[in-house]
Amino acid sequence: MQDRDLQAPAPSPAAPQGAPRGAAFLWGAATSAFQIEGAPDAAGKGPSLWDTYCRQPGRGRGGGDWRGACDHYRRWRDDIGLMARLNLNAYRFSVSWPRIQPAGRGKANAAGLDHYDRLIDGLLDAGIRPMVTLYHWDLPQALQDELGGWLSDDLPAIFADYASLVYHRLADRVEDWITINEPWVVTVAGYMDGVHPPGVRDKAKAYRAGHNLLRAHARAAAAYRPAQRGGGRITFALNAAYSFPASEEAADIVAAERAMLNFGGWFGDPACFGDYPPLLRARLGELLPEFGEEDRRLLRRSMDYIALNYYTSDVVRHKAGGGPMDTEVVDDGAPQTEMGWPIRPQGLRLLLHWLSDRYGKLPTLITENGAAFDDQPDADGFVQDDGRSAYLREHIEAAFQARAEGVDLRGYYAWSLLDNLEWAEGFTKRFGIVRCDFETQARTIKASGRWYADLIARGGPAGFSAPGAVGAGAGAGGT
Ligand code: FCB
Repeated sequence: MQDRDLQAPAPSPAAPQGAPRGAAFLWGAATSAFQIEGAPDAAGKGPSLWDTYCRQPGRGRGGGDWRGACDHYRRWRDDIGLMARLNLNAYRFSVSWPRIQPAGRGKANAAGLDHYDRLIDGLLDAGIRPMVTLYHWDLPQALQDELGGWLSDDLPAIFADYASLVYHRLADRVEDWITINEPWVVTVAGYMDGVHPPGVRDKAKAYRAGHNLLRAHARAAAAYRPAQRGGGRITFALNAAYSFPASEEAADIVAAERAMLNFGGWFGDPACFGDYPPLLRARLGELLPEFGEEDRRLLRRSMDYIALNYYTSDVVRHKAGGGPMDTEVVDDGAPQTEMGWPIRPQGLRLLLHWLSDRYGKLPTLITENGAAFDDQPDADGFVQDDGRSAYLREHIEAAFQARAEGVDLRGYYAWSLLDNLEWAEGFTKRFGIVRCDFETQARTIKASGRWYADLIARGGPAGFSAPGAVGAGAGAGGT
């Protein structure tokens, strides 16, 4: 019912290899395999950590069935149609490791690779540039049972073998790669706080798991080099927040910087410089494992671009005894999304600068950004989600402000294409720009989706130059 309202952009070729500055800006949406695919046993797929988690009673709350999720495994053609209606020229998705290697090791399950092969061809036929994430948290259960998951020092090499199978089949058509999605969340939620599987709560183990995730990223990036073509690029997806100092006191300003090094720097620094920030070494001592010479060398070449997942930022003050960094997050009453995450678009702008300055002005893509709100569908399933539209608009404008100030920003992917299975929150939190009815699987583009499609057709937000943007010449061309 929304089609008539969607403004189509002028035909524009997919971004050329490597999307150099001035090439088409990438306007995308993002998803991950476990959150949308369903079909947990199809075509030889093995169980993942998250399948096991959802099999426990009381999981997957919110009305959906984790086994079905958004049924994207079967409906992917229709979903590409949705992307086209949204005017997207880019799409980020993840490959499910246990579809490719049901037990995490050994030869590839051809049927698993076939699925992604077809998906990629379908995207390219629709003029949509695929971005592939190799690991978005769905570890093959066998690797947990047999080796202890990311606590095993053997996982990096095993992950790189899996990555090579995927490159071998898909790297001829995919140029944008992400090894691991948010190693910080895997580490903190999975091994420190125990709120994600495998549910470990142990600081020393958490730093070991984080260390192996970094080593795995570095090895998978190195394994990509032989398959890399002219424009191909690889990195990991960094989730981070900007820390606003709670006051102008020097102690708070320095504390905020410490908090940022402990968040974005924990994973960003090794992938750029080959080691953790000296501050973390000084404050965490033996908790932080040492990288070997080979690890350091591989890490230093492992981040071709910055892939930033951004949702919120913090206000931070100095507090003696406030964890290893002597910091405390302050609640300043800022409006929040349904996740309880404060809405801070200027944090995105400042964080983009912080990352760009720290990591040598690398090309940058915002690979996730979006918001959960309590959607109220009308009788047709349409959602007038003005809060989400405002969130997206404010963040895109903040990002374009950073771009106009010199950050080499080349793309933006809204989280998420569809309402989906939000991990431990089950189906209770909706992030989609398209509504998914989890009973009927009906998809309905929300008001935010219409708004986004229209923004893309206009070539980006008003008041910022967007050279070569999609639709430039057709609409307002970014003015
Ligand atoms: C990010 C995850 C993504 C989604 C959003 C809301 O941390 O990468 O899968 O759950 O949060």
